[in-house]
Amino acid sequence: MNYLITGGAGFLGRHLANKLVALGHNVRVIDDLSAGEKDSLDHRVLFTRGDVRDQPKLWTLLHDIDVVYHLAAKVSLPQSVLYPREYNDVNVGGTVAVMEAMRALGTPRIVLASSGTIYGDQKRQPVDEDVPPDLRTPYAVSKLASEHYIFTLGRHYGIQSVALRIFNAFGPGQALPPAYPPVVPQFLNRILQGGSVVVFGSGQQTRDYVYVEDVVDALIIAGERDDIDGEVINIGSGVETSVNDLIALIEQVTARKAHVLYNDDQSGGVQRLVADIEKAERLLGYRPRWTLEDGLTETIHQDPRFRTLMPNPISITTRS
Ligand SMILES: NC(=O)c1ccc[n+]([C@@H]2O[C@H](COP(=O)([O-])OP(=O)(O)OC[C@H]3O[C@@H](n4cnc5c(N)ncnc54)[C@H](O)[C@@H]3O)[C@@H](O)[C@H]2O)c1
Repeated sequence: MNYLITGGAGFLGRHLANKLVALGHNVRVIDDLSAGEKDSLDHRVLFTRGDVRDQPKLWTLLHDIDVVYHLAAKVSLPQSVLYPREYNDVNVGGTVAVMEAMRALGTPRIVLASSGTIYGDQKRQPVDEDVPPDLRTPYAVSKLASEHYIFTLGRHYGIQSVALRIFNAFGPGQALPPAYPPVVPQFLNRILQGGSVVVFGSGQQTRDYVYVEDVVDALIIAGERDDIDGEVINIGSGVETSVNDLIALIEQVTARKAHVLYNDDQSGGVQRLVADIEKAERLLGYRPRWTLEDGLTETIHQDPRFRTLMPNPISITTRS
């Protein structure tokens, strides 16, 4: 099969691209490298640097492509509040541009990386796909708008369209930008360096942390299936973990004690968020294989930024 991954030099995109080529597929990537890095892409991946809204580039890259994975996006929730126009331009405009180019080339299928953050604050947990979204940030708006665009245009253009609502993915190679770093690599880094961890709110807020390999498996299956057109599907671990429990687990796998500072002035976001993954299991046969503890251990083992900070690297046991 021939795949195009937009945003394929990013955290999820690199894992997906490398797995697909390892399975013997042809993979092309377009990424503007605004947040990605291409060095850890397998040499068999055909990389093109470019903006996902660049139609002529997309026309060239889409030639003979069976499935597009649309991952290119700006991904920070708080940053999207500061720069909503940019988030709209890249995330929504990028999705529309990809659909238009797919129409021009007759590309048959798209899988969109959407997000569990569109559920916002919900009383009933875990959240299933039928719950009305509660949009809290421009990022969430851009993801829901992207879903509507792939389904609406997909019907007009005859493009099979699927949206995976991914929850809090983590794993080796996740970027650690100075502003708004994702929580797992941020805490790993801080705790391993002996620094303080700042928790917004009480630390009782919960999230669904899903290991990158489980997300990649779900993306691959979703790209192979021709009977899930028009579906939105949650991809998470199905396990609810508080920020305090995450810190305790990191202390356990790193054998370090965390120094935790609580900042009550700033909100820790929604109080609870965990995925109902029954639909993913039913439609994709999806079953997460990684526990949070195994995923954290593997992240430390695989990622040199963390491995080199471990006091005794030999003591890390990996999952067989
Ligand atoms: N990681 C998660 O927990 C998570 C959860 C839900 C959804 N998602 C979605 O999955 C996708 C990948 O996320 P990620 O965590 O790998 O983030 P990431 O920032 O590592 O990857 C996004 C990639 O898109 C590229 N990009 C940004 N703007 C671009 C543009 N205009 N043209 C071309 N490329 C552009 C970036 O350079 C980056 O490589 C995103 O769409 C994100 O919204 C991720």
